[in-house]
Amino acid sequence: MGHLIAPSLLSADFSNLKKDIDMINHSKADWFHIDIMDGMFVPNISFGFPVLKFIARHTEKPLDMHLMILDPDRYIERFREAGAEWISVHYETCPHLHRSLQLIRSTGAKAGIVLNPHSPVSLLDDIISAADYVLLMSVNPGYGGQKFIENTYKKIKELKGLILENGSKTLIQIDGGVNLNNAPELLRAGADILVAGNSVFSSDDPLKTIEQLKKDPSDV
Ligand code: DX5
Ligand code: ZN
Repeated sequence: MGHLIAPSLLSADFSNLKKDIDMINHSKADWFHIDIMDGMFVPNISFGFPVLKFIARHTEKPLDMHLMILDPDRYIERFREAGAEWISVHYETCPHLHRSLQLIRSTGAKAGIVLNPHSPVSLLDDIISAADYVLLMSVNPGYGGQKFIENTYKKIKELKGLILENGSKTLIQIDGGVNLNNAPELLRAGADILVAGNSVFSSDDPLKTIEQLKKDPSDV
């Protein structure tokens, strides 16, 4: 499988969301990445269900919902009903992570674990095979447009090692500060899915940026 690109709607133009959704629909992007923030786990608040309903009505690609909220189990079914095919929860918010992942899978969605930049990959030793994907945060969650944290490369390699050791099919997703300069190296390190917000939506030519992010790293 080639790698996937998931533009983050957090950086879209909310005064003309339909236009940006259509742009992604017609682009080479694979998913829509949707950041859900509660103002508690992270210092920012983003979309609620009424907006998600509108988004789901117009998107023509899988929705990947990244839940930056405390006690996410309360809302898993509602996010699934709101159209999520991929749902990720933070390790830091789930005292019963195995149960949370099972809950996500029981709705028919794919289940992901997110690690903050300070959380080591070794935390996943006993849970990796229960996750369809792991999202490594390469910025502190809460805002788009932040600077990429270089330690992420080391974490990708460790995570790849853990996945291979366990013979699992877990995918590796990277989120935060991803751009045309670091994408090839992230992919070479073992990333399968790249989230990109600011680098896509602040580009003069978002369609072209997505196309460039989709390029095989060996051709760059
Ligand atoms: C940050 C979010 C990201 C964000 C990425 O908390 O999880 O998905 O939108 O934006 P960029 O690519 O601009 O760092
Ligand atoms: Zn995100």
